[in-house]
Amino acid sequence: MCGIVGYNGKNKAIDILLDGLSKLEYRGYDSAGVAIREKDIKIFKSKGKLVNLKEKLSNKRLNGTCGIGHTRWATHGEPSENNAHPHISNDGNVTLVHNGIIENYLELTQKLKKHGYKFYSETDTEVLANLIDYYYKKYKIGPIDAINRTMVRVRGSYAIAVMFEEYPDEIWVARKDSPMIIGQNEDGTYLASDVPAMLKYTRQVYYIDNMEAACLKKNQVIFFDLNGDVITKEMKTIEWDITAAEKEGYEHFMIKEIHEQPEVIKKTIGSYINNKTISFEESGLTKEALSNIKQVYIVACGSAYHVGVCAQYVIEELSKVQTRVDIASEFRYRKPLLDKDELVIIISQSGETADSLAALREAKSRGVKTLAIVNVVGSSIAREADYVLYTLAGPEIAVATTKAFSTQLIVAYLFAIELALSKGQITKTKYNELLKEIEKLPTSVQSILDNDLKNIQKISSEFSYKQDAFYIGRGLDYAISLEGSLKLKEISYIHSEAYAAGELKHGTISLIEDNTLVIGVVTQEDVYEKTLSNLTEVKSRGGYILSISPENIDVKKVSNYSIKIPQTLKYFYPSLSVIVLQLLGYYIAVSKGIDVDKPRNLAKSVTVE
Ligand code: BG6
Repeated sequence: MCGIVGYNGKNKAIDILLDGLSKLEYRGYDSAGVAIREKDIKIFKSKGKLVNLKEKLSNKRLNGTCGIGHTRWATHGEPSENNAHPHISNDGNVTLVHNGIIENYLELTQKLKKHGYKFYSETDTEVLANLIDYYYKKYKIGPIDAINRTMVRVRGSYAIAVMFEEYPDEIWVARKDSPMIIGQNEDGTYLASDVPAMLKYTRQVYYIDNMEAACLKKNQVIFFDLNGDVITKEMKTIEWDITAAEKEGYEHFMIKEIHEQPEVIKKTIGSYINNKTISFEESGLTKEALSNIKQVYIVACGSAYHVGVCAQYVIEELSKVQTRVDIASEFRYRKPLLDKDELVIIISQSGETADSLAALREAKSRGVKTLAIVNVVGSSIAREADYVLYTLAGPEIAVATTKAFSTQLIVAYLFAIELALSKGQITKTKYNELLKEIEKLPTSVQSILDNDLKNIQKISSEFSYKQDAFYIGRGLDYAISLEGSLKLKEISYIHSEAYAAGELKHGTISLIEDNTLVIGVVTQEDVYEKTLSNLTEVKSRGGYILSISPENIDVKKVSNYSIKIPQTLKYFYPSLSVIVLQLLGYYIAVSKGIDVDKPRNLAKSVTVE
């Protein structure tokens, strides 16, 4: 998720572009760049936050009134000046900025190389610049046909803004799945990934739809469909104030990121499953490497550790490969017994957490192969691991992780399935069945957000005075209860513990008294009755039970409040029950008036020991 902006009018473009980018930095902040039309197109790029680019431009006199800009969240190619946008075609005919992911960029790179194109960056975006140029030259056609042919040829998501050498007073845009709005006022025309970037200049906007393009002239915008025919668009008025806009109207980044989960889960699945087959090739984790793994050791911190606990159950059940999981701050000092044929998996959203990085280095120093499941491209853990599988959650602003957690679960499932197949532990039929079910998860998550959110909001307000809470479950339900409990603690400051349901009677049940809040996660059919009797034990001691279960599991008789989630295969229920657990934590915290995005004493990434 990057931020793109553009302006074409009568004022100096550079000020408007830099201002717009500063309002979009929540979308990505690892590098930035602008292209300004002076006599020719001038491009300036820098690594790191926008302030670095501003410094670089501070002594430049740029009077051009037409330009495009970009603030990056790396997906393909580490954050660097070379990989920063704008990107240009070989001869500079095409200059563009892009937000999204071109899934078939490797195939297109080979095609263009056959036609003599050379590539200077590791990005999927540079391919777009050359592909548009390729069609532009091959068919000697104008911008709209070159862009439309490109839209037909590429697979993935994109919002692009393009400047053509031979069309000095025009900016061309197109989109599919990535956001873009176009604005206009008496001073010119504007484009941006999101409203905050242009609210200062205009509230009059157009919404461009998927597979549509437009030409931004100094005083008009012309829209085109995929046939290149001109289409009309209705101008809309934006009511929001700037801060609300950055959160797209949501009260907090956390609830915004909770709502982004269906999309980012879909993106993450799409980046690894192609033609009903999982591919980790880009990471170097070949089928052969997978089949040689004798043991797996997952190491992480905080919520990422809880993904590891879930993954342990799924990896062992599907692939029969022994899997251990450990907290990084313990792993790094307890001299773990590691085996040469072992794979140490480090899970981290930021890729910079000190204990997890040290655990990675510890494993490497012992000659053991390491796999990083990371959200930040180019982060230390990503750079130092032998293999990297990126999650595509985009930038996560709220300290308490939600969408990154969900995308880490997806990558863990895909790893377990591919390992199981490479070990011959599952058939191709089972493999296909599992992938089919995973591809249903974005819709199921969306249905929880659509159908249950209001109920969860209502019931949560009844718990804001609670001092304690317990989360119980068996197997994968116990694993995800750990995350539910942490979410509540992190943002509501209510003390809570997660317990393996069968363990409760060996001590902690002494804490259960009238109205003690107990959240029972009951999705695993094979241990359903066992969990039910544990909930009955709690109920008989006065506990207030809020249960989370699918339709086919009946826990009504022990529940004071029951939340139903869509059905799926047993391995994947953490991806659904966690949505309810996140919403519970969020709404209980909000009902206590807490700033959930920046909870006390916590940081998004702990880069010190
Ligand atoms: C904490 C964050 O600082 O670090 C948690 O508040 C996170 O949300 C944990 O789970 C681990 O961070 P990371 O970036 O390594 O996943």
